[in-house]
Amino acid sequence: MRYPEFQFLSSQASQVEQSCHVFGIFEKHDTTPDTSHLTSVPFYHEIIAPLIKESRFTGKQGTTATANLLHSIGKVMLIGLGKQEVIDQETIRQAAATVYRTAVQLHTPSVVVDFIGLLTDENHLKAFAEGILLSAYVDERFKSKKDTTTTYLKKVYLLNAKADDQVIQLAQKITTGANLARDLVNAPANYVTPSMLAQTATDIAQRHGLELTILEKEDCQRLGMGAYLSVTQGSSQPPKFIHLSYKPKSINNQSDFKKIALIGKGVTFDSGGLNLKTGSAQIELMKFDMGGAAAMLGAAEAIGAIKPNKEIHFIIAATENMINGSATKPGDVVTASNGKTIEIDNTDAEGRLTLADALVYAEKLGVDAIVDLATLTGAIMVALGTRIAGLFSTDSKLVNSLMTASPRTGEKIWQMPLEASYLQSMDSIIADMRNTGNKKGGGSITAALFLKQFIQKTAWAHLDIAGTVWTDKPWSYHNAGATGFGVRLLVDWVLNS
Ligand code: BES
Ligand code: MN
Ligand code: ZN
Repeated sequence: MRYPEFQFLSSQASQVEQSCHVFGIFEKHDTTPDTSHLTSVPFYHEIIAPLIKESRFTGKQGTTATANLLHSIGKVMLIGLGKQEVIDQETIRQAAATVYRTAVQLHTPSVVVDFIGLLTDENHLKAFAEGILLSAYVDERFKSKKDTTTTYLKKVYLLNAKADDQVIQLAQKITTGANLARDLVNAPANYVTPSMLAQTATDIAQRHGLELTILEKEDCQRLGMGAYLSVTQGSSQPPKFIHLSYKPKSINNQSDFKKIALIGKGVTFDSGGLNLKTGSAQIELMKFDMGGAAAMLGAAEAIGAIKPNKEIHFIIAATENMINGSATKPGDVVTASNGKTIEIDNTDAEGRLTLADALVYAEKLGVDAIVDLATLTGAIMVALGTRIAGLFSTDSKLVNSLMTASPRTGEKIWQMPLEASYLQSMDSIIADMRNTGNKKGGGSITAALFLKQFIQKTAWAHLDIAGTVWTDKPWSYHNAGATGFGVRLLVDWVLNS
């Protein structure tokens, strides 16, 4: 895939005369555009001022206006940035997406971007580059004919920006991870099997020098992972319990969380099992039930490249949830690796069973924090829709650090309650607990409470990403399909907490 390259310019250079000139414009309080910085542009009076007038351009966030330059094949693109005081990394990332999409519409292979000095701030510069690189993602792997008619943006020249290639490289490492996660989620379940996730982990480990352990079925049996194995037993694909670890040369002793375990739900296809998904349950979308695992591998790719001074473990209990003669039956009782017995009331509540044994395994590593990402419940979409993930946690420092990272990356999360009194709805007559709560709502909460039973004392946070992993329609820097949700959030959190 071709991603655009970035180059810093110190002035409107002659070799880019035939390019598309992009100007970021703020919206003033009287909803008129702030053009004060533009009056010195050579074609201001000739082109920009009339364009603003004719298109009634206000500078409102997300708006654009374009024109051709007279006597040349160059173009002009105005980008509304909105009110100056609400500019943050995410508004810049989204403005970059507008630049990218508009450039493709204009068939221009290059742009010269002038964002009123905003990109002299390195966080803004990073966000801008991320917005471009995330927007450039397209998935043509499964098309027999590749698109040859679109002129993709190849070159982004930056004016009035901090000329720091390392910032661009950081954005490239992070978005490579996010786009890897998108690739894994977009690919169908006949390509992305547990073995293929394990292969991807192997590639990442080799590329960046990470340690890798893959536990096969027999290893998991020896460890008593009866909850995870119960999900795997109806599938012809062998399960793979993946443990990638990144160990730094030296550890930052200042930080609260120096040694971290990140866990991703890796159900490569969720048929529901014998509680088969029917009707509105959208079984045909359930290739995305490994979105948490994809976020782990994407984050591992980025962290392996960035090499921060923290120890990070990435854990995925990968499996399909399928039906054959050996499949788990509703009512079966299994024993997890911490000795707890579970009555499987519903085989479609499988994610929590796989995560239970992964959480027990993670805690044994003696980490300071465990964060899991999982497409765990349809109920989280009822509560928060498709643009906000649910955050459940037992630790306020962990909550605060995640809630601070979230607005920086634009991946929205909202804290949900771990209401302890709902736990009894999972009481079982025959076993220690059932894998489902009562039918009267709160399904994301009971799912999180179920997970909590497999943590003893380590700070833990769970993100339910069932709504955010996928988008039916393109928006901002996302095309339709996988969003790569969580990769940038986890990397930002690891680097800054
Ligand atoms: N993978 C699903 C959750 C899901 C549903 C994600 C829809 C995205 C869209 C999970 O394994 C599941 O089936 N959960 C059940 C739990 C129920 C049986 C208690 C659900 O949410 O319906
Ligand atoms: Mn399910
Ligand atoms: Zn599932």
